[in-house]
Amino acid sequence: MANGLDDVVAAETVLSDVDGLGGRLTIRGHSLPELAGRWSYAQVVQLLLDGFFDDLPGDVELAARLGQARSEVFERLRPMLPSLLSVDIYSAMRAGMALLPDGETLADALRLIAAPAVLTPALLRLRRGEQPLAPDARADHAGDMLRMLNGTVASPALTKALDTYLVTVCDHGLNASTFATRVVASTQAGLTSAVLAGLGALKGPLHGGAPGPVIEMLDAIAAHGDAASWLRDEIVHGERIMGFGHRIYRVRDPRADVLKAVVRQLGGEGDTGNRLAFAEKVEQAALDVLRAAKPERSIQTNVEFYTALLLEAAGFPTDAFSNVFAAGRAAGWVAHAREQQTTGRLIRPQSRYVGPMPDLVA
Ligand code: ACO
Repeated sequence: MANGLDDVVAAETVLSDVDGLGGRLTIRGHSLPELAGRWSYAQVVQLLLDGFFDDLPGDVELAARLGQARSEVFERLRPMLPSLLSVDIYSAMRAGMALLPDGETLADALRLIAAPAVLTPALLRLRRGEQPLAPDARADHAGDMLRMLNGTVASPALTKALDTYLVTVCDHGLNASTFATRVVASTQAGLTSAVLAGLGALKGPLHGGAPGPVIEMLDAIAAHGDAASWLRDEIVHGERIMGFGHRIYRVRDPRADVLKAVVRQLGGEGDTGNRLAFAEKVEQAALDVLRAAKPERSIQTNVEFYTALLLEAAGFPTDAFSNVFAAGRAAGWVAHAREQQTTGRLIRPQSRYVGPMPDLVA
């Protein structure tokens, strides 16, 4: 039995393929470099949902429908938002999304995909004592998210950077959150329930919760002054280095390269450029330390390392990084939920009982 279901094939999918030895990600027949920076998030949503809704429009109308969905989410949930702020920003977003109807229509799907991009800026503004800003239904999805966060229209470069990020993380095979989503979808509980399962799984630091800790690590190393000794110390104490390692990739995560290039484009001579230069040194030190500590493993940089730098440059606080991940991954979750439902089969594996048996009375 594989403890973490390693190498178990639990679904057939047309949505994405992760080639762990080749370091390639394919999304519906397109390689990641073909999509990232070239297709908008709305176009990729259209690509992922294609065939799963009878009334799916073309990509131009889909972008407009996604904008409309942002407005609907805001109108529906705006009155409840202040009461959600007693918990962390990710749980607050998840609680807001739990209030969306558990339907199966395209409108339900688009509201779920739009919701993290609307709720995250609104909750962050409320937390810092500012009024949430309503979406602009005609704006680009990533640009609207940044405007709702910062109150000003973001530069084309930053808008493009966030859009590229959302595309880069939109889907990734049967990762933990997508599997959780498919399990719930297989019970026919509805799209909101399925996406909430994905949200729960994504939160953990071994999955989508890693980029916040990457920033904490970079800050700690900057304060310490010696990357290699700080990293070695972590390993000696049994800690994992955030932003490195992957269950499937044995080579570099291709998403890391895409996001590193995006951060470099944003960087220049300013703070982001300095941060990138420092992060590159830490990355090299971490790869050296991991190679020495675990020579039998190939532990490489994963998507979360450069995600952290990109989202920091975009102005998101570290505790909201996983929210932004969810804003991209929501499209994949919805598509996988629909795909799972088409099989009509409940996911119900077996466990092997290893506990004591009751005494048998003769
Ligand atoms: N730092 C230190 N050691 C590591 C790391 C790491 N980042 N990654 C793997 N290892 C070690 C484990 O401790 C384990 O060692 P052991 O066999 O001596 O006990 C061994 O390598 C396990 O290797 P794998 O089977 O390749 O990794 P696994 O599938 O168990 O873990 C995971 C994958 C959870 C992502 C892991 O690499 C990790 O914890 N990374 C840090 C957190 C992180 O970056 N998460 C984001 C992942 S990307 C994503 O989900 C979007």
